Amino acid sequence: MSDIKKVGVLGCGLMGSGIAQIAAQAGYETVVREVEQKFLDKGLAGIDKSLGKFVEKGKMQAADKDACIARLKGTTNLDDLADCDIVIEAIIENAELKKETYAALDRIVKKDAIFASNTSSLTITELSMATARPKQFVGLHFFNPVPLMKLVEVVRTILTSDESFNRAFAFAKSLGKEAVAARDNSGFIVNRLLVPYILDAIRAYEEGVGSIEDIDKAMMLGCGYPMGPFTLLDFVGLDTTYFITEVMFAEYQEKRFAAPPLLRKMVLAGRLGRNKTGTGFYDYSSGTPIPFDKAK
Ligand code: 3HC
Repeated sequence: MSDIKKVGVLGCGLMGSGIAQIAAQAGYETVVREVEQKFLDKGLAGIDKSLGKFVEKGKMQAADKDACIARLKGTTNLDDLADCDIVIEAIIENAELKKETYAALDRIVKKDAIFASNTSSLTITELSMATARPKQFVGLHFFNPVPLMKLVEVVRTILTSDESFNRAFAFAKSLGKEAVAARDNSGFIVNRLLVPYILDAIRAYEEGVGSIEDIDKAMMLGCGYPMGPFTLLDFVGLDTTYFITEVMFAEYQEKRFAAPPLLRKMVLAGRLGRNKTGTGFYDYSSGTPIPFDKAK
C-alpha cells in the first residue's frame, strides 16, 4: 500500500470516471471534480454501471460495490481537493486549460501532494511548470477502459524528484495495476508505438492493401490483438486520435506521427467513434458494425 490516503481526480469523463472508480475500488477515499453537475452525474452513473457489471459477473460483492461508492464523492468545487495526497487530472486535452487548472489547484491543494496528469501526448514538463511544485509532478497514463486495462505508465520529467516518482509508482501499483516507468517524451511508451501503427493501418487502407474489415481481421487473428486497428480507432475516438497525432507530429516532425488525410476527413465529417457519435470507420447504428465505405 502506498502512503497516500486521499485521491483527487479532475474530470469525470471516460478516463476520469474510470480512474476515480479504481481508486475507490482500491480503498482510497476519492473525490472527483467536474465543471458541471450534469457531467458529474453522467460520469458517476457510468461508475455505477461498471461496478454493477463486476457484481453481475460475481467479480465483486454487492456490499463491496456499496462501500466503493461510499468512498467516492463527486463535486464541482476545486476546494474539495484541498486535502488530497495525490491529484490526477483527466480533463480535456487542452494544454492552456490544463495549465490554468493546475495553477489554481497549486494554490488550493496541500503542499506535499503529488500532481499527476493522465494526458496521452502533451508534455508533462510543460504542465508541471504551471505550478510551484514541478518536483512533485508526474504523468500517470491510464488506458481505456480503465477498470479493465492492466497498465499505468508512470512518467517522470527531468524535474521529478526520485521520492515523488517512487510514491507515484507505488500508488499506481496499489490500484491493482501493473506500472511501467516512462520518460516524458510525447506519447510515452504505448502511444509512441501504437499511434504510428494505427495511422499506418489507415494508410494501408488508403493504398488499397485490404478492406477495413480485412485489416482488422488480419491484425486480430494474425497477431492476437483483442481489436483490429479500425475498431480500436473507433473505440479510442477519432477526434482524440487526431489531436494526439497533431501533438506528436509537432513534437517529432516525423511522418509516422502525421495524420493521414482520411483521419482528418472522418473528424471533419463528424464521425468521431463508437461512443461519441456511433459512427467512425464503422457505423454501429444497426448493432452490427458496417464499414463506412459499405454503409452508403
Ligand atoms: N467496467 C466493467 N466491465 C466492463 C467495462 C467497464 N468499464 N467495459 C467492458 N466491460 C465488460 C463487458 O461488459 C464485457 O462483459 P461480458 O463478458 O459480460 O459481456 C467484458 O468486460 C468484456 O468486454 P467485451 O465483451 O466488450 O469484449 P472484450 O473481451 O473484447 O474486452 C476490451 C473488451 C477489454 C476493451 C478488449 O477488447 C481490449 O482489450 N481491447 C483493446 C483496448 C485497448 O487497446 N485499449 C487501449 C486504448 S489506447 C489508450 O487508451 C491510450 C490513450 O492515450 C489513447
